[in-house]
Amino acid sequence: MDLVSKILKNPKMWDIAQKIFGCDEKKQQMYRAVMDKPGKILDFGCSDGNAFLGFKDMEYYGLDIDKTLIEFAKQKYADFPNAKFIADDIFNKPFEENFFDHVLFACTGHHLPEDLINKVMKELCYVLKPGGALYIFDTIRRPGKDPWYIRSLIALDQGKHMKTESWYKENMSKFDERFTVEETDVFKVGGNFAPQPTWFYAKLVKK
Ligand SMILES: C[S@@+](CC[C@H](N)C(=O)[O-])C[C@H]1O[C@@H](n2cnc3c(N)ncnc32)[C@H](O)[C@@H]1O
Repeated sequence: MDLVSKILKNPKMWDIAQKIFGCDEKKQQMYRAVMDKPGKILDFGCSDGNAFLGFKDMEYYGLDIDKTLIEFAKQKYADFPNAKFIADDIFNKPFEENFFDHVLFACTGHHLPEDLINKVMKELCYVLKPGGALYIFDTIRRPGKDPWYIRSLIALDQGKHMKTESWYKENMSKFDERFTVEETDVFKVGGNFAPQPTWFYAKLVKK
């Protein structure tokens, strides 16, 4: 494990890093803005619950394999009865089939190699209700377009599998045959302390 990863294993350090580089409040707003109906939401790879405050009006389930981050989230959001934080691996099937109206897959794609992201997507499709939507938000590389300081940030990022817009567009429809790609977008998030790589967004609806 490299030094950056070791430091960010501490939930307090992760929280501080998110405030500087991760733009938590903007993430909360942009993740919430794409969900137009109430219901149960799974925040897959919820980390220390940094997106939760965007979902105070929903039945929120945060799942992360990292027990330390989940314990931190449970304590931090103990006053919110709608917030459930679960430490488990999605491959252990911690939820029933067709359980969620919404699944958020945010900022996690660039941490997963291609074979693993395909398997995770099948599990996320399994827990999503027919008619429900999976929302992908991820930072991406833009070969030939990213300036040097963005390339340096990408090199420092804990996620070593940063994908491109074309990778998502070529592979999303193969994640599961029950998914239909309804929306995609590529955008910049500005106004942070640190510059950000470009973001990719997609909405996949389960038939
Ligand atoms: C970079 S964090 C995502 C941060 C957050 N979602 C956001 O938008 O800022 C990725 C998280 O995915 C979690 N994760 C990776 N594989 C997982 C799995 N199989 N089951 C549950 N969580 C997993 C990791 O522990 C990590 O905390």
